[in-house]
Amino acid sequence: MLTIVGAPLLLLILSNWVRSSPVSSSDWILDSTFGTQATIASEQTKAAVVDLEIDLTQGWVDPRILGGQLLDFTTRRKGEPLNVIISGKSDPYILSEIGFSIYAKSLGFSSECLGLHYGNIHQANLGDGNEKQDEQLLARQYYFTRPGGPVLGTCWESLAGGNHFRAWKQNGTKADTGAWFLGVSKEEHSGKHHMIIPDGYNIGRDFLVAQAVSSPTHWNSLWWQAEVEWVQGLLEPGSDGVNHGIKQDGYVAVLTVIRL
Ligand SMILES: *[C@@H]1O[C@H](CO)[C@@H](O)[C@H](O)[C@H]1NC(C)=O
Repeated sequence: MLTIVGAPLLLLILSNWVRSSPVSSSDWILDSTFGTQATIASEQTKAAVVDLEIDLTQGWVDPRILGGQLLDFTTRRKGEPLNVIISGKSDPYILSEIGFSIYAKSLGFSSECLGLHYGNIHQANLGDGNEKQDEQLLARQYYFTRPGGPVLGTCWESLAGGNHFRAWKQNGTKADTGAWFLGVSKEEHSGKHHMIIPDGYNIGRDFLVAQAVSSPTHWNSLWWQAEVEWVQGLLEPGSDGVNHGIKQDGYVAVLTVIRL
């Protein structure tokens, strides 16, 4: 858990991180409410009090407050980081399952690439009262194959390796924010049995965020623009409990996606 360090040190860490991030510093907004949530999470014993204090206004809730976590369950003991949150303050259409798969297409991901020898179902507990749920969407990056024009539905990623994500919706009765939680990563080509590449969690996340925030994205006539807020402290940096033992930096990207 993030301990509160001196403000100058925190700023130093943040500015170093922003410099090394592919996302420009203007996208950075420190989540000021995080401290409050962290405090609540450390008082899990007072369950009744916690229930009353759950704050839905920021469009997502820290899953740890009600016993969830920011790692999914890939195996019994290991999981993949849920490193992107699409806030419930986003365009209501993309909070629906169909709308979200359309939005994912605007980012270059398609759920129609499903079914090609893809591995096991992951589960996640988003702390919304639903306990562990199977993934609700699996989408893969697709590649445009013809110069000058998109050719859709190639699902080339399945063979070539690339970025993909699994998604779960935080819509249980105890924290019904409507937010999507995504575990994004980049993997090797299929000959390598879908191993995540070195640093593949950070790389996959940064790829998706860059697609979403750098310029408006669209699918047919629907256009969106996302803003990102980077949140530290939800995920422990490092490789503890992380599938394949691949380190990740502990940052979670919270996207708020507006319809243009
Ligand atoms: C929660 O969202 C999932 C994914 O869209 C959906 O399958 C499920 O029916 C929803 N649950 C409720 C109670 O709306």
